[in-house]
Amino acid sequence: MAQGGHLKSLVPGAAPLGIALAATMTTVGALAQGVADPVAGAEVFKQCAPCHGVGPNPPAGKAGPALNGVVGRKSASDSGFNYSPQMRSARLNWTEPTLARFLRAPKAMVPGTRMLFSGLAAEKDVADVIAFLRQYDESGDRR
Ligand code: HEC
Repeated sequence: MAQGGHLKSLVPGAAPLGIALAATMTTVGALAQGVADPVAGAEVFKQCAPCHGVGPNPPAGKAGPALNGVVGRKSASDSGFNYSPQMRSARLNWTEPTLARFLRAPKAMVPGTRMLFSGLAAEKDVADVIAFLRQYDESGDRR
């Protein structure tokens, strides 16, 4: 009883602090990532999810490699995935600009890739899906 009352009395003070903190973090994120929105990126990722896993325990047996930690890693570096010879010899570094170029037109950048996806037309979708992916480190945890 007494504890319940105590908790309640904390709430009015805690809520404005939480809101201020969330606002600060959103601003910092927006500055670091331009206008890219990882929440919108999760929606865009639904187009990738039939072929790619991300996060803890990505499902095996997808057509494409898991994308944990892909932002910043070298191309074709998921040792458990059988890449095409073209992707293996592409020797790319998946920086954000390189990923953006690939996601706009995979086959133009890596001719012969097995990624059967025509590309994302909207710049915002490209930026947002990259912002979504960069949240995950190589073990699938949130950075
Ligand atoms: C139809 C299945 C399919 C879809 C849809 C698809 N991909 Fe892929 N993706 C693949 C395959 C297969 C490969 C491996 C290509 C190769 O080996 O040539 C790949 C490779 C990649 C790579 C390179 C990974 C590495 O380890 O080097 C990235 C990055 C990637 N995809 C991102 C995406 C994103 C983001 C989307 C959604 C916007 C997407 N893909 C949609 C099948 C797909």
